Amino acid sequence: VFDQEMERIFLTNWNFVCHESEIPEAGDYRTATVAGQAIVVCRNPDGRINAFYNTCRHRGAQVVPEGAGNARAFTCMYHLWTYDLDGRLLSVPGEEAYQTSYAEGGLAKCDTGLVPVRVDSMHRLVFVCFDHDVPGLADYLGDIADVLAVPFGDPELKVWVDREKTMRANWKMQPENSRDGYHAPLLHRRLRHVSPPRPYRLTGNGHAVQVLGLDYEDGLKHNTVDKELADNPELTRAFMSHPLPGISRDAPAYVVTLFPDSLFLVRYSTLLIERQIPIGPDETVIEFRAGGIEGDDAAVSAVRDAHWNVYWSDGEGNLAEDWAAYEAQQRGVGNAGMRYSLLARGEPATEGLRGDDNRIRSFWQEWRRHMGCDTNAPPDDR
Ligand code: FES
Repeated sequence: VFDQEMERIFLTNWNFVCHESEIPEAGDYRTATVAGQAIVVCRNPDGRINAFYNTCRHRGAQVVPEGAGNARAFTCMYHLWTYDLDGRLLSVPGEEAYQTSYAEGGLAKCDTGLVPVRVDSMHRLVFVCFDHDVPGLADYLGDIADVLAVPFGDPELKVWVDREKTMRANWKMQPENSRDGYHAPLLHRRLRHVSPPRPYRLTGNGHAVQVLGLDYEDGLKHNTVDKELADNPELTRAFMSHPLPGISRDAPAYVVTLFPDSLFLVRYSTLLIERQIPIGPDETVIEFRAGGIEGDDAAVSAVRDAHWNVYWSDGEGNLAEDWAAYEAQQRGVGNAGMRYSLLARGEPATEGLRGDDNRIRSFWQEWRRHMGCDTNAPPDDR
């Protein structure tokens, strides 16, 4: 099933890879593994974003070491073949030795560049796709793009990878969890009173948005915020003092879940992007991104950091609680006695409050569409 998912879901969908602010200058690049493919994304001298398979056309070595940086060209470490930022093969040591090959025409450098990967960005969010036949990024995102425009499309927004962690669970635990509003005030006590649900909306292609309130005064009054916040109400109030671009108190927070597995979570002055790298049926690497505004001073950065850490620090907060749930669910669903999950909350609807299971239903409907399973398991198999 995992291999089929790679082939039928990840290789045929657009996959989020980074925010444009992570490669702002000509020559900036970052490597990534997407759908099991090692790629490099870079900005060429004209400012255009390119993506290539990170594979040398000589004998297949990985050209760009894993990580991020700035380069004028990419040189493979093995025999020093060098490619420019548009993937063209620039130089080959000892190239004259190839004169006896290729029907005496020499090495066809113009046919031996890095192999391009389809890449596009919307509201400064960069996506890649390995299938040249599926519709473009605008079709894939549909209406959800309007939600992501704020704050991600703002030229002042900057995003960075904060950390990376390996989860001992299948990649589907994260999209199930991030579409499950039921658990939010139960597993995460700190969300009670602080982050009341507002309507969710399903959009095309398995995407969804859940709008949220954000009210720390109510959390302080009902004593549901974490102890360190209760002890430091000034800091807690500062979380609502530095909105990300375009974010207002009328619409202070949202969660966007894109099919199959990327997550964009905005909480007034801070944000989280999760990008998953499925490794195997029970192992997934998750990249966590944070964000701020270009030119934030140290004091504002400290507030954004503190706000981010309330939810997504390694030690405690929502992430630690969700992480425990991912891995507990993985251990549990592996048992032979567990044949089906129960996804039955709320009437099927495209809108509602977050206690409904409709965002999870929408994920599984899209999963089945891609995997070629038209229905749930037959009744006699229950
Ligand atoms: Fe890259 Fe030989 S494999 S130069």
